[in-house]
Amino acid sequence: MSQEVQERKYYPHAVVWEITFACNMRCLHCGTAAGQKRSDELTHEEAIALVDELCGLGAQEITLSGGEPLLRKDWPQLAQRIIDGGSKAYLITNGYAVDEKIVDEFERINFTNIGVSFDGTEPTHNHIRQREKSFKRAKNAMQMMSDRGNIRFCAITQVSNMNLNEMDEIKQILQDVGCRQWRIQMTTSTGRMKEQDNMVLTTDKFPYLVDKLLEYKEEGKIDIDVGENIGFYGCKGTQLWDGKPYFGCFAGMRVAGITSNGEVRGCLSMPEYFNEGNIRDSSFTEIWDDPNNFMYNRVFRSSDAGGWCKECKYLPLCRGGCATTSFSATNMRANNPYCMYQIEKANGIECEDNEMIQSLLDHVHKQLGGKVETVEK
Ligand SMILES: C[S@@+](CC[C@H](N)C(=O)[O-])C[C@H]1O[C@@H](n2cnc3c(N)ncnc32)[C@H](O)[C@@H]1O
Ligand code: SF4
Ligand code: SF4
Repeated sequence: MSQEVQERKYYPHAVVWEITFACNMRCLHCGTAAGQKRSDELTHEEAIALVDELCGLGAQEITLSGGEPLLRKDWPQLAQRIIDGGSKAYLITNGYAVDEKIVDEFERINFTNIGVSFDGTEPTHNHIRQREKSFKRAKNAMQMMSDRGNIRFCAITQVSNMNLNEMDEIKQILQDVGCRQWRIQMTTSTGRMKEQDNMVLTTDKFPYLVDKLLEYKEEGKIDIDVGENIGFYGCKGTQLWDGKPYFGCFAGMRVAGITSNGEVRGCLSMPEYFNEGNIRDSSFTEIWDDPNNFMYNRVFRSSDAGGWCKECKYLPLCRGGCATTSFSATNMRANNPYCMYQIEKANGIECEDNEMIQSLLDHVHKQLGGKVETVEK
């Protein structure tokens, strides 16, 4: 990392980039409601220039996402440019278009990781993804990569009432295809999922998901990658994060999202409301460096927090957890009902903090008098 990047207070360590809005599926849960290609998507030249700029700004991990990224023809060139620029390339796909030729490309490009979305048993996955054969093709995509033996890939599952009771079956299928890593996140009420609001987990079902993750971690048959919107503090939340302090959402501080027509947000999962500017109007660097942008994280005050989080002792550390989850549930950046600390507390369960978390809490509360003013990382 260059000296200049090291001196920056904020830099986009991890960027998730929707390289196209086109999609070969119309998933019920899709947080961006992807479908048709936008009429004004970045050209190849603009996209290449953006990769170069991001690499220069210190981006260490760039994820090609979508829509369905494999529908954009120049995805291999974009991935190669990322690697040539010194960053790690990742890709998230629904797996539908993956065949042996594409797997050859995955192998040649040497992605750091390829995520394949996998949401349930055959009928459930096909229902959620609104496309026949989507289960078979996603499974086959993982099988092909697994057979090569040298491609790093993982499965990604978003959990709602549509698939919560299929966790064990999903795990078994993943193990059978030789998948070693499983990322699990809670489905948020964004995009098309807003029309399925009754399918979003309720706080009484949420602990079941947390218990399942703890069970799988303990069992150790597959690596569990816990999504940013699960856990936080509390007895089980802390256990889920292996006793490490959870520092909440880094959107606009270390994380950035970019849409296929150049809109910049702190995180691609956030709704349009969080757009900060378009790279066609000012460069990504100008948008990133604008002191008026990403204020919800860069200048976070305890007065910004609501109901669930307002009086919470962890607020200076956690800042309300995943901003997208909180915003989608309560329209506030830091008022998050999906928090194991609050859920346990409401049930009369409270655990002592471990030494590391306790000393951090002592430190911030002494320094800030319990108030979060500007949080600097
Ligand atoms: C937007 S998709 C883009 C890549 C590709 N089309 C796919 O489905 O894998 C990226 C990931 O976000 C997940 N996702 C979409 N909507 C979501 C939501 N409302 N809540 C949580 N995850 C969601 C998808 O299931 C997928 O794993
Ligand atoms: S989740 Fe992925 S595959 Fe499904 S509609 Fe959205 S972008 Fe397409
Ligand atoms: S109540 Fe809010 S601030 Fe407290 S731990 Fe939970 S999500 Fe974090």
